Amino acid sequence: MPPFRIELRSDTQTTPTQEMREAMARAEVGDDLGGEDPTVRDLEALAADLFEREAALFVTSGTMGNIVSLLTHTTPGQAILVDPESHVALAEAGGYARLGGCSLIPIESPGHLTAADLEPHLGPVTTHSLQPGLVWTENTHNRRGGVAWGPDVMRELAALAAAHGLRLHVDGARIFNAAAAVGVPVAELTRGADTVQFCLSKGLGAPFGSLIVGSAEVIGRARRTRQMVGGGMRQAGVMAAPGLIALRDGPGRMADDHRRARQLGGVVDDLPGLRLVSPVFTNLIFVTWNPDELDITTFVAEATARGVGVGMPRGDTFRLVTHHQVGDAELEEAADVLALAAEAAAVSAAAR
Ligand SMILES: Cc1ncc(COP(=O)(O)O)c(C=O)c1O
Repeated sequence: MPPFRIELRSDTQTTPTQEMREAMARAEVGDDLGGEDPTVRDLEALAADLFEREAALFVTSGTMGNIVSLLTHTTPGQAILVDPESHVALAEAGGYARLGGCSLIPIESPGHLTAADLEPHLGPVTTHSLQPGLVWTENTHNRRGGVAWGPDVMRELAALAAAHGLRLHVDGARIFNAAAAVGVPVAELTRGADTVQFCLSKGLGAPFGSLIVGSAEVIGRARRTRQMVGGGMRQAGVMAAPGLIALRDGPGRMADDHRRARQLGGVVDDLPGLRLVSPVFTNLIFVTWNPDELDITTFVAEATARGVGVGMPRGDTFRLVTHHQVGDAELEEAADVLALAAEAAAVSAAAR
């Protein structure tokens, strides 16, 4: 039994549907290390097709997709141009440094790096300077409010990267959310990137898995890199099968997830003591609170006791996330529960 009746902690908390479980049980399998697993091959072909790329590689997670891409593009000692609030910088156990031997050139952004942001960091490499090797982007950008950015930025970045001999990666853990928000297909949104990593296990609703897409040459090297870090799999068709369903059904549901996130964001913003940190761009809602008006520990505990999971507060912010297992009925119930939790948390704050 999942811990919450209504799971708003993350879109990674979706559970596989009955159809996914049955597909896993029925999946045709083979030795994927030898390229013999037909279900994995189907999933990789579908991903390559959707992104209009030559090839794709199935990996276990977004973190694996990112580190395999990073290791494929860089050599130790190189630097990565990246927003310091990116997942790779903060939440992947420092793999870029430990496994990649890379440093970061942090560039603050509202969620997307522009060519103008990067240019000052691309002077001549001297005896003392860092040597940039890779431009790293994230779309949607999780910690920048789930903001989505469009193909114009991507085109500029790709041109700049090419002019300076840099590789360009998109951490597209939620790229289908971005595509729905911006209103363009994922292929157009990511054109010009050397690799895109996207997660099946977030809004798309699969229990695990990510894919890296790129040219046949890059994906061939990434396949060796995946093997190097122990990510090669055998009869992985059982893992790929729910991914095929997620890719078939997930993208079409994103607009509803975003509508519900905006709706819930509006409700939360109206509760005393709570305030949205930024507009709701996609399916992520970032909320802050006034500690004089609302005791956050009571708020989380009251929501939990009533079966609604809210993100653990980090600093002065917590996150609520919509996904396909939060329908209109769940949303309505969650709104009522959060209102009750806020009432209890106001009483606690007043009693302090
Ligand atoms: C932007 C972003 N990139 C990468 C990841 C890593 O994905 P995974 O949890 O599958 O390793 C996440 C996970 O939350 C993420 O939000």
